[in-house]
Parts: sequence; C-alpha cells; structure tokens
Amino acid sequence: MIILDSQKDALASLEERLRHSNAFLKNLILSSVDGVMAADRKGKILIFNDAAAEISGYTVDEALQNLNIRDVYPEDGAYEVMRKLRSDAFGGRGKLQSCQVEVMRKDGQPIPISLNAAIVYENGNEVATVGFFHDLSQTLKIQRELEQTQIQLLQAEKMASLGKLAAGVAHQINNPLGGIILFAGLMLEEYDLEKPAQEDLRRILRDAERCKDTVKELLEFARQTRHEMRPLDINEAIVRTLFLLENQTLFQNIDIVRRLDEDIPPVKGDSQQLNHVFMNIILNAAQAMQGNGRLTVSTKRGPNDKRAHIAIADTGPGIPPDIMPHIFEPFFTTKEEGEGTGIGLSLVYGIVESHGGTIRAVNREPTGTSFFIELPLSQPEDEEGDLES
Ligand SMILES: Nc1ncnc2c1ncn2[C@@H]1O[C@H](COP(=O)(O)OP(=O)(O)O)[C@@H](O)[C@H]1O
Ligand SMILES: [Mg+2]
Repeated sequence: MIILDSQKDALASLEERLRHSNAFLKNLILSSVDGVMAADRKGKILIFNDAAAEISGYTVDEALQNLNIRDVYPEDGAYEVMRKLRSDAFGGRGKLQSCQVEVMRKDGQPIPISLNAAIVYENGNEVATVGFFHDLSQTLKIQRELEQTQIQLLQAEKMASLGKLAAGVAHQINNPLGGIILFAGLMLEEYDLEKPAQEDLRRILRDAERCKDTVKELLEFARQTRHEMRPLDINEAIVRTLFLLENQTLFQNIDIVRRLDEDIPPVKGDSQQLNHVFMNIILNAAQAMQGNGRLTVSTKRGPNDKRAHIAIADTGPGIPPDIMPHIFEPFFTTKEEGEGTGIGLSLVYGIVESHGGTIRAVNREPTGTSFFIELPLSQPEDEEGDLES
C-alpha cells in the first residue's frame, strides 16, 4: 500500500496524541490520593501507584515485579473480593462499592481499607480487576476511641452520682455520730460506772470512732468531682481503698498483705480516678477468690526508674488463656447477670492510659492473677500544687 506523505503526517500526529493521552491517564492514576491497584486474571499486578505503595509497604517496583494480588489480602481475602465483585449484591455485577476489607502490609501487619473495585471486561470477558482504596486505620481508631470515651463518660456520670449519694449519706451520719462519741465520752468521764458498764461504753466509743473514720474516708473518696492531675502519694491512695474495702463481708476471710515502698515519690494523677482503679482491681480479686485467700498489694520503684510499679496479686483461679485477651474490653464479663457488668477493667484501662501508664494481667504459679500497673512519677514541674493525699 502506498502511503502518502500527508497521510503519514496525520498518522504521526494521531500516534503522538495517543501517546499524550496515555501518559496523561497514567499520570492521573499514579498521582491519585487513593491507592490504585490493578491486576490481570492471574493476579499479576499491572498498576500500583504511590499511595498503594505507602499503604502496603511495598515499593512500586517490588509490587510490579514480584507481588501477586492474592498476597495482598490475608488468607482467602482475594477470592472473597472476587466473589463479591461477581455478585450482584455489592453495587452491581462486576462492581464493589465502599467495602471494608483487610490487606496485609509487607511487614505482615493487617490494615483495614475501604475498597471500591471493578472487573475490567473486554468483549464480555474478564481481563483484569482494578481497585481504588484508602487506609481506614486512623478513622477506625478515632471511632473506637470515641466509643470508649462515651462508655467512660457514662460510667463517670454514674460514679459521680454514686459519689454524691455516698457523700450525702456520710454527711447525714456525721452529726449523730458526733453526738454518740461526745456523750459516750462524757458518761465515761462524769459517772462512776461499774467496770462492765465502762467496758461497754469504751466498746461503743471504739466502734463509733471506726464509723467516723469510714465516713471521713468516704467523704474523701467522693470529694473530687473534676478530674485533676496532681502529684499524689500512691501508697495513701491504696491504703484508703483497702480501708474502705477490708471491713466488707467479702473481705472477712481474705488475708491482706501490704508491701508498700515507703520511699516512693509521688505520681502525677487524679486521686479519684486512681481510687477507682484500685477499687475495681481489688474487688475483682476478692470476687475471683470468692472471699477466701490472700491479696498482696505492693508498690515499688526500681533504681533510676521514672515510674511507680504497683502489683495487686490474688490467689484465685487465675484467668483462662482464651479469656485473657478480652478482660479489658468494655462489657466483657464472665460473671452472671447482675453480678458483673464488664465495665470495671475497661474503665481501669482507660484511666491508666490517660495517666500515661500501663497495665497488664499475668497468671501466677500455682494459681491466681497479678495485675501490674506502672504510672509515671510526677516531674518537678508538676509540683506547683499541693501534695495530694
Ligand atoms: N483477679 C481476677 N481473677 C480472675 N479473673 C478476673 C480477675 N479480674 C478480672 N477477671 C476477669 O475479667 C473479667 C472482666 O472484669 P471487669 O471488667 O472488672 O468486669 P466484671 O467484674 O463486671 O465482670 C471478669 O468477668 C473476670 O472474668
Ligand atoms: Mg469488676
């Protein structure tokens, strides 16, 4: 065939335009903010842009040369995506809209993504798939934190109203109690009573004094309503919690061992919130031991350590391995309805975390559980306020 010069020119310019528009399309895909990934029917990667590289941890070259689309999804994930693509139910046949799936990063870490995908057909045959996706980790994390905060808020509100109630009752009891102590004291001093009567009166005085201490602790416990971070003595917080608990029936057959390091410097914390932490853990321990066993509470600080270490150990049955990963989850409980809400430890976890600390549970030999808490010590710049006790 003879091709005229003018035709040659037209062809060249057509080719040029085609090259141009191809380059433009390629550029468009590569610079997309979403990850873009296309694969042929065998799973070989055909397109992999920078955003996809950033999300997946593979370089573009690695992906184009060695990666198979099946390796991007954990287990049967790739088949699952294909199944959905071929079905009608997820945005039409050959399409998948805003589907949340997991992909595996190069380092083996799974990450949630939101995926829009399509099958590319040529003459009615599947020739490739293309997916547009973005990383959902951050969004999901914020969502989880929000849910967590909502639960904590609810609980905090409940605790606050319980605290008010307790404070109200404590106030009501305080006055008559003052009367009992005053008049029992007067009788002892002013009357020449027989020995057994004197002893009875002393007993009344002692018990009334004990009530007074409890009321005082209760008032102190419920005092703070706003959360305030101040330097506080961790031993005192523990002693206060134990004081409130040890006379409860549940604790009558529990041997309480205190190993408190007297030289521990103050930690930075909110005393009311930390009271809740110790209260929840110690109550759980007593419940696990069903009121029988030994509770050991220890505090210490390692040499040159900027953290206070608190350990609360019981001799209960321990936590079964399949339960262990869930104990800090909100609403996770193994207790009967009415006995447990499953909120306690999730609250504890949130509080410890907001104090910049850590908490973990470990089973003990031969039996029992230890909770280890670490809290940052108060730094000199925190100590403008009074020492909280
Ligand atoms: N000291 C412990 N010994 C054994 N199991 C424990 C202990 N502390 C917590 N658990 C387990 O963790 C679960 C969650 O505790 P928590 O969040 O306080 O909720 P709740 O006490 O309402 O069940 C408990 O139901 C229990 O199974
Ligand atoms: Mg509990």
